[in-house]
Amino acid sequence: MSNRLNTTPNDLRAFWMPFTANRQFKKEPRLFVGAKDMYYTTHDGRQVLDGTAGLWCVNAGHCRPKITEAIREQAGELDYAPAFQLGHPKAFELANRLVDIAPEGMDHVLYTNSGSESVETALKVALAYHRVKGDGSRFRLIGRERGYHGVNFGGISVGGIVSNRKMFGTLLTGVDHMPHTHQPGKNAFTRGQPEHGGDLATELERIVTLHDASTIAAVIVEPIAGSTGVLIPPKGYLQKLREICTKHGILLIFDEVITGFGRLGAPFAAQYYDVKPDMITTAKGLTNGVIPMGAVFVTAEIHDAFMNGPEHMIEFMHGYTYSGNPIASAAALATLDTYKEEGLLTRAAELSDYWADALHSLKDCPNVIDIRNTGLIGAIELDPIAGEPTKRAFTAFLKAYEKGLLIRTTGDIIALSPPLIIEKHHIDELFAKLREILQNNI
Ligand SMILES: Cc1ncc(COP(=O)(O)O)c(C=O)c1O
Repeated sequence: MSNRLNTTPNDLRAFWMPFTANRQFKKEPRLFVGAKDMYYTTHDGRQVLDGTAGLWCVNAGHCRPKITEAIREQAGELDYAPAFQLGHPKAFELANRLVDIAPEGMDHVLYTNSGSESVETALKVALAYHRVKGDGSRFRLIGRERGYHGVNFGGISVGGIVSNRKMFGTLLTGVDHMPHTHQPGKNAFTRGQPEHGGDLATELERIVTLHDASTIAAVIVEPIAGSTGVLIPPKGYLQKLREICTKHGILLIFDEVITGFGRLGAPFAAQYYDVKPDMITTAKGLTNGVIPMGAVFVTAEIHDAFMNGPEHMIEFMHGYTYSGNPIASAAALATLDTYKEEGLLTRAAELSDYWADALHSLKDCPNVIDIRNTGLIGAIELDPIAGEPTKRAFTAFLKAYEKGLLIRTTGDIIALSPPLIIEKHHIDELFAKLREILQNNI
């Protein structure tokens, strides 16, 4: 019988879900039907504490009135304006507001609709920048093992997750990777930045020597690698990358899709670590996850290099139908207002000690082999079950959901990144629930 007849909302077959074990999910569905502030409501009427800000994006908590209202109003006033050769006021207002909170000198913003698109945009800007400067031989892009930069071809090419790459052919050519910085043997149970591994940045020098600096356009890294399990940069590492890139005329791109908008206790990781990249890619927290939108910050130097040639000509051949969409812009402006009014872009700094104490108190639980943290991010690495990698953490995820707690797992690592409105009693609730789960020898 045709699927078309099965239109009931609880028929789960048609939707091929993203990054999901579809068969497992459809046997045992987990659906959210509502959310408010720190909690989701499930389809069976339970409250679930959000330990992950959705997917690292709902930084101001759920269903915040100002954001909801801004979307409602904008949808009734101006629903869509063409993004090319035309504009609308809120996209410009938003760009100015974003530049105000960005690191000094990041004076321009290109809009996208996701983190993946922000990455593609930044990589293309990097290649084109060198070309408009007459340096078109710089075509190589350097990423890092265990890096996650979304799912499009540029992003998976510079990314370093084998399972995200291996099915998709040759990817972009001319890409190389630095080693990742995760050294649990040396750095286990470190609070904040690890002592060991800063020297791994000099691997970039090796890659530059191999290919010659004149062929390299850009290096892209996440300041903290989130999706592969919260890998905190070792002391001195990001500074050293900056130094090497500057020395060789290579652009440095920070992918701040998860670290942007207050996650560490400063608006961006670039400010938190006091290292200035040439571009910053963002999405997620830009609109509190409510409407798809991303932004790429670039320096004035990059932007100005394109502003040549006849004035009626398009300077950069790139853009999306929804770049700076009015409703997304309105949502982002209301999100920035909410962050400002509630001090959320720096709140993680105030709570990070309490958070770290609670997180590291799980050190004595069975199978915990590492715990790490920065700002309002935490990770608990579990010893994989022999022959069944990922199963222990996935079991923890399922049990947490049953107990009313949302966590995220990647491999055998539990990653935590709650909304920045979290209160101490929520932190207590979160870690009490996790302790109950981990103590039971999953
Ligand atoms: C660092 C980083 N870059 C890019 C992305 C991709 O973002 P999106 O899923 O919005 O395409 C993510 C998503 O988690 C991310 O963490």
